[in-house]
Amino acid sequence: MTVTNSDQATSDRFPRELVRRLLDNYRGKTLDHAPGPMTEPATVFTDPVRFQKELEVLFHGGAHIVGWTGELPKPGTYITKNVAGHPVLVTRAEDGVLRAFRNACTHRGAQVADGCGEARRLTCPYHAWSFELNGDVAGQPQAYAFSDIEKSTLGLQALPVADVAGLIAVGLSDDVDPVAAFADIEPQLRWCGYETHEIVCQHTWTLKANWKIAFDVNLESYHVDYLHRETLSNLVLHNPIYDSFGKHARWGFPTVGTERVVDLPEEHWPPTMPVSIVHTLFPSVVLLETPVSCQMFRVYPGRNVNECTVDLTEASLKPIVNEEDREARKRGADFAALVVGTEDFPTAEQCQRGAEIGLTNFNFGSNEPMLQHWHRTWQNALDNA
Ligand code: FES
Ligand SMILES: [Fe+2]
Repeated sequence: MTVTNSDQATSDRFPRELVRRLLDNYRGKTLDHAPGPMTEPATVFTDPVRFQKELEVLFHGGAHIVGWTGELPKPGTYITKNVAGHPVLVTRAEDGVLRAFRNACTHRGAQVADGCGEARRLTCPYHAWSFELNGDVAGQPQAYAFSDIEKSTLGLQALPVADVAGLIAVGLSDDVDPVAAFADIEPQLRWCGYETHEIVCQHTWTLKANWKIAFDVNLESYHVDYLHRETLSNLVLHNPIYDSFGKHARWGFPTVGTERVVDLPEEHWPPTMPVSIVHTLFPSVVLLETPVSCQMFRVYPGRNVNECTVDLTEASLKPIVNEEDREARKRGADFAALVVGTEDFPTAEQCQRGAEIGLTNFNFGSNEPMLQHWHRTWQNALDNA
């Protein structure tokens, strides 16, 4: 069933249907479970042959959420992203159309843009070929030297791209359909209002851990009272809900303050209830909806089975209008970065060491249904490739 805001005031931050389930779990001192535990061989985190197949099937042959359409708020804007080691350029040209390209100059491959901004044309730093935001080549110093090459073949190479409920979905190979890739979960994302999000800041980590171990730290609240006892344990309550939508999944948890609203009649609920909802999108993106912001984690494999990168981008829900708001959002992001950077990720590296020294299995409890979902989903995708 698709969650909507149709039965409530449009000012509500979270769909009431999800809030009701979270409050039910809180009242019942329970959580959504999987039918039983699941065992995963530790070699899935260490096997270089499997790693190569994951690169091909899950990453280089797939579609990926790379950001929010709010990052390209008007014609004449562009952003660049690293997507599983692929430099990607996304533009909104004067015609307002969203486009994606390999960020590789058609002269000799250098990246034609860096960061993000507004521009009429993008100029490659190597020999100054320039490109329109629609990809057409616009200028070439000493163009006579290339006059035998049909100019229309020298435009930037396009990638499949789609607006999925305000998220930018990009295919890394030409035959990928980014709309179909997220169709199972797209209706569930519409309440999030991604098209108005504005990025506040970004953090990037390189870890000595398999990408799946880094992703897994985002999938359960079981560890919060222990690993995060000095930071998050006073905020996050262990009464999560869980749902899957094809390859994708959602979970959520109540947060501190639930004790003050749990017995209120619904008509007295405040517009922002104290919960968080987490969407996890195939193959490796996490979107955390907090009461005041949205955080996007993009987890990618590194060059080897035991390396990965994690990008965390923090967005405000609406465009920021004053510096006070910006500072408040930035403080939130810095706190999140501190927690994951000093608590979750060092632990992920420890888990990787555990796998590498010959541990036989990882065990996912019935209280960790998201981990079970993701490990089954990745395995199915590899088996069906
Ligand atoms: S590589 Fe871009 S102009 Fe030469
Ligand atoms: Fe954590």
